[in-house]
Amino acid sequence: MINSKIPPIPPLTKDENASISPISNDEFSSPISSVGMGKFNDQYYMARALRLAKKGLWSTEPNPRTGCVLVRDGEIVGEGWHQVAGEPHAEIHALAMAKEKAVEATCYVTLEPCCHHGRTPPCTDALIKAGVTRVVAAITDPNPLVSKKGIEQLLKAGITVDTGILSHEAEQLNPGFFMRMRHKRPYIRCKLAMSLDGRTAMASGESKWITSQNARRDVQCLRARSSAILAGVGTVLADDPQLTVRENELSCKLSLEKPVVIKQPLRVIIDTHLSMPHDARMLSLPGQTLIFTASYNKTIKGILEKAGAIVVSQPNQEKRVDLPVLCQILAEEYEVNEVQMETGANLSGAMLSKGLIDEIVIYMAPVLMGNKARGLFNLPEIEHLNQIIPLSIVDIRAIGHDWRITAHPIYQ
Ligand SMILES: NC(=O)c1ccc[n+]([C@@H]2O[C@H](COP(=O)([O-])OP(=O)(O)OC[C@H]3O[C@@H](n4cnc5c(N)ncnc54)[C@H](OP(=O)(O)O)[C@@H]3O)[C@@H](O)[C@H]2O)c1
Repeated sequence: MINSKIPPIPPLTKDENASISPISNDEFSSPISSVGMGKFNDQYYMARALRLAKKGLWSTEPNPRTGCVLVRDGEIVGEGWHQVAGEPHAEIHALAMAKEKAVEATCYVTLEPCCHHGRTPPCTDALIKAGVTRVVAAITDPNPLVSKKGIEQLLKAGITVDTGILSHEAEQLNPGFFMRMRHKRPYIRCKLAMSLDGRTAMASGESKWITSQNARRDVQCLRARSSAILAGVGTVLADDPQLTVRENELSCKLSLEKPVVIKQPLRVIIDTHLSMPHDARMLSLPGQTLIFTASYNKTIKGILEKAGAIVVSQPNQEKRVDLPVLCQILAEEYEVNEVQMETGANLSGAMLSKGLIDEIVIYMAPVLMGNKARGLFNLPEIEHLNQIIPLSIVDIRAIGHDWRITAHPIYQ
C-alpha cells in the first residue's frame, strides 16, 4: 500500500506531455498500468522514481535529473528528486522523509548512487548508514570517474544491488548528461520552424513568424530544459532575438510543489567575422552570451566584451568556427548537457553534415512560402539518392494549428 501521507504524483497534463520530448506519456504509464491488483513490482516503483526525476527537468543542470523512492514491506516510506546542483541528491531527500523507516527498505533510484565527494557528500554512505538492504538503480552512472564504483561500495556493505530496470527511460531523461559523459560533447537538439513546403526563411532572410504563438510557447519549454541555445549571427542580424526562457510564455507545467528558479541558458552565437552588433538585444538581458568566432580582431573583440559577451576565437583550417571543437568546449568547459539549436539553413546543414545533430524538432506551419524561400538544411554535398540522410521519426503531434515532428537523424 502507498503511504497515505505521500501525495500521489498526478498524471502528466496534456500540455506537459506535449512539450517534453522524447519521453512520451505511454512510456511512463505502461509500467504502472501493467501491474496487477495491488501487486507492485520493481518497474512500478522505478516508474514512480522517474516521474519524480522529471520534476528536475528545468533545474538540475549540469547534474542529471534523478528521482528516488524508498519502499519497506510494500509501503512507500520516502521519496525525493534532485532539484538544483549543489543541493541534496534524490536519495538524501527520500532518506530524510523516511527517517528510521529506511531500515531494511529497498531504494529505487534512477541513476547509480554517487560515491564521491562532489558538491555534496556521497549518497552511498547515507544509504549504508540508514540501513537500506536493497538498492535498485535504473542505470549505472556514465561518468567514468564514478561508474560502477557506487555499486561496488554498496555491495561491499552487504547491500543487494540490481540494475537495468527502466534503464532506457532513465537515459532518455538525461540525454545531454549521458552524451557529455560518454562522448565529451552535448546532446544537440535542432529546432526549426518551416512551412509545409519545407522553407525556413524568405530569400531576404525574413522569418518572423512562420509558426503560431502556440508553437513558440512550446519552444519555450524546450529552451527551459536546455543548458545552451545556439544561433548564428545571421539570425541575430535578421531578427535580433532574445534567446531567453520567459516563464510567462511556457506552455507546460512540471507539477512542482514549489516553483524552481529556471536558469537562463547560455546563449552561444557562431559569428565567423565578428559581425555581432554590440547593441544586440540579448547582450543586455539576464544570462551569458558566448560568441565563437574565427576572427582575432582585438578591437571588435574588446567592444563586444565591454558589452558583456565572452568571445572565443576558434578557427579551423577554412577560417570558420571549428564546430566539433565548439561542441567539445561547451561540454568540457561550460558543462553544457543539452543544446537547443535555433539556426538557419546554413548552420543547421553544417552541423548535420558533421554528424553533430542528435534530434530534430520541426514545427510545420500550414503555409506555403514558395521556391525562392530558403530551405531547411543546406546540404550541398548531397547529390545522389544514396547520400540522403534517413530520419527516424519518434513523435508527431499538433501544437495549435502547427505540427511538431521529432526525429533522429540516422548517420550512415
Ligand atoms: N525558420 C527557422 O526556424 C529559423 C531559425 C533560425 C534562423 N532562421 C533564419 O536563418 C537565417 C540565418 O541563419 P543563421 O544565422 O543560422 O546562419 P548564417 O547567417 O547562415 O550563418 C551564421 C554564422 O555561421 C557561420 N557558418 C555558416 N556555415 C558554417 C560552417 N559550415 N562552419 C562554420 N561556420 C559556419 C557563418 O559564417 P560564414 O560567413 O563563414 O558563412 C556565420 O558567421 C536568417 O534569415 C534567420 O531569420 C530561421
